[in-house]
Amino acid sequence: MVGSGGREHALCLGLAGAGHEVLAAPGNPGMAEVATLVPTSLDPRGLADIVAHATAAAVDLVVVGPEAPLVQGFVDRARAAGLAAFGPEAAAARLEGSKAYAKEVMERASVPTARAVTVRDLDAGLAALREVGERCVVKADGLAAGKGVVVAESPGEAERAVRDCFGGRFGDAGTVVVIEELLEGEELSVLVLCDGQGFVALPPAQDHKPIGEGDTGPNTGGMGAYSPVPAADPALVDRVLDEVVEPTIWGLRKDGVEYTGVLYCGLMLTGDGPKVLEFNCRFGDPEAQAVLPRLQGDIGEVLLAAAHGHLDPSLVTVSADAAVTVVAAAEGYPDTPRKGDPIEGLDDAAAVPGAVVFQAGTKLTDTGLVTDGGRVLAVTGLGQSLRAARDVAYTALDRIEWRGKYVRRDIGYRALVADSEASEAPAGSGTA
Ligand code: AMP
Ligand code: GLY
Repeated sequence: MVGSGGREHALCLGLAGAGHEVLAAPGNPGMAEVATLVPTSLDPRGLADIVAHATAAAVDLVVVGPEAPLVQGFVDRARAAGLAAFGPEAAAARLEGSKAYAKEVMERASVPTARAVTVRDLDAGLAALREVGERCVVKADGLAAGKGVVVAESPGEAERAVRDCFGGRFGDAGTVVVIEELLEGEELSVLVLCDGQGFVALPPAQDHKPIGEGDTGPNTGGMGAYSPVPAADPALVDRVLDEVVEPTIWGLRKDGVEYTGVLYCGLMLTGDGPKVLEFNCRFGDPEAQAVLPRLQGDIGEVLLAAAHGHLDPSLVTVSADAAVTVVAAAEGYPDTPRKGDPIEGLDDAAAVPGAVVFQAGTKLTDTGLVTDGGRVLAVTGLGQSLRAARDVAYTALDRIEWRGKYVRRDIGYRALVADSEASEAPAGSGTA
């Protein structure tokens, strides 16, 4: 398991829970409870060490969590060393690594997405703002840890965002900029497992990206997620598979690129149907912490089958339980999270029936566990309804304390409104 965040902790728990022996590089203190940690970095030199370590340990499968190693070609290297790996090679991971490339692929394959212009200098950027219109979204082309996107509230903000990109705010990631029309609606994440030929959809999830309640304020990596999503019925998921996933995979294949791993479709459910906001080349974080606990069976077997090109839809079965995942962040996140605050109460939280704690930005010191990143941990509640799952998650999360802990209290609010509207339907409608 390559990575050290909450998503990787969720994958580790799934793999270890199915009886697999797991090595985690570099892992985190939560993962250490179910896996052997391999101390390493995720920079290019560290990646070479991981391949060497995995080869020496003769692992059956390498699973890559985060986007950066995928975009840097980690899977290509692992395969070249004779290892089986779950994740796209660099050419396919470009769908996330370059937003301009993703737009190109979508355009060629007629995949519904926001109208966009790609620019390479400030003057072209300012001209594009006039072309796309006042309500627009400015995106640094490359990887920017979820922070390279500005949904502009005003023309002034859009212009500032374009100037920031070309002023070097995102380094190389911002030397190309995509400016696109602002789409409105509800967001949905559809994650699809791909084996190079076919694909199998996982249950959809909804993420809450903005830092503030009611989805306000700057975007983060994600403050919470839930699954299932009432707005995403099976017909909608089929539509996404037909209109987005299949043409994208075919479009890549025409370029000689096979997609293995997770294709994450970030969608806006607009009045004209689902449109792609972004592709990611990996599980979402925190979507993974909501979706993976709902999967039944052996996740190791599923990922191995995908890596070997014979994914079988019957391997993926989903429990009827709902999952709500709430992220707890350090004070100052997303700009300047404070580190080093002692964390208390993890065992009490994990003792809440139906709760699972996933560590992310944590560090074990001589004096105990302390905060060590922006998104410190996440708690998933499982229950028979989204409401029950939400209550489990917050009950558990309220038992965890550190100075400045920040939690959005409204995770799942859109679905819960839908839930209560449903429960106000006339008696006899059969809604739970
Ligand atoms: P991305 O990394 O491209 O998904 O952008 C991050 C977030 O910005 C998305 O989850 C949306 O909340 C928002 N966003 C991106 N593109 C658009 C768009 N065209 N219209 C409205 N919101 C968007
Ligand atoms: N939660 C959004 C992401 O993983 O990109």
